[in-house]
Amino acid sequence: MILKDRVAIITGAGSGIGRAGALIMAREGAHIVVADTNLANAEETVRQIVETGGSAESLPVDVTDDKALENGILSVAARCGRIDILHNHAGAQVAGDLEEVPVEGFEKSWSLNVRAHFMASRFVMPIMKNAGKGVILNTSSSSGVLYDREMIAYTTTKHAVIAMTRQMAGDYARFGVRVNALCPGWVDTPFNEPFIAQMGGRAAIEDYIAKKVPLGRWANVSEIAEPILFLVSDRSSYMTGQILVVDGGETIV
Ligand SMILES: NC(=O)c1ccc[n+]([C@@H]2O[C@H](COP(=O)([O-])OP(=O)(O)OC[C@H]3O[C@@H](n4cnc5c(N)ncnc54)[C@H](O)[C@@H]3O)[C@@H](O)[C@H]2O)c1
Repeated sequence: MILKDRVAIITGAGSGIGRAGALIMAREGAHIVVADTNLANAEETVRQIVETGGSAESLPVDVTDDKALENGILSVAARCGRIDILHNHAGAQVAGDLEEVPVEGFEKSWSLNVRAHFMASRFVMPIMKNAGKGVILNTSSSSGVLYDREMIAYTTTKHAVIAMTRQMAGDYARFGVRVNALCPGWVDTPFNEPFIAQMGGRAAIEDYIAKKVPLGRWANVSEIAEPILFLVSDRSSYMTGQILVVDGGETIV
């Protein structure tokens, strides 16, 4: 087990990619803190981990609530005595071009996609510095390296995650803390439901992905979980400030 006895906090681990990352890290021996606004979903992730012999707990928290986030992280550190991994994963997609996107939608995107990653990292950093090691993984998106049609709030915030990741990596490497970013492409999770509705249904999105993605299909969550495991484990021990794009080739065309 390559994460034996490590403690990992994963935001948005009640569903989709975050849950798949939680399951694979638990399989490798980490104790998982499932930080999510949706308690029922968080508990379901915990149940799946415990059922397979792993160790996990839920942390019901809205990551845009600074005080609740800080209290949650500090309580984990106090109880577990360490935080080895932080995966900042929770995020949202608000559609619209410059003139269409509601200003509140832009602000919500900023606060969840960027500011919450910033705040959670800020709260864990003293603990990791003190330990002389730690790993932070920030979920960006292929939209963090691409133009994405009429998605200004999403692309702006996901590009910002990459800039912030590089900056944090440079500033904290000397303390033994590695920081990388994950850029998934199309992954079949509930996250895409609003976009599917906007496209006019499942058939339309299937057709779009078949044409747009060189591999011609969605990723399933296990195909993102493996890169997550790589980035949060010692398998990537000489990697920091890097951006791993896992998108079926979408960004090469
Ligand atoms: N699915 C994709 O195609 C795709 C592609 C690229 C990037 N991403 C990124 O992955 C992340 C989410 O994707 P997913 O596919 O796992 O989604 P998902 O919808 O399956 O899960 C998201 C989880 O985040 C939680 N969450 C939402 N807001 C929260 C908040 N304020 N505080 C705490 N938890 C909150 C939700 O309750 C949910 O459990 C986002 O950052 C998104 O930008 C997804």
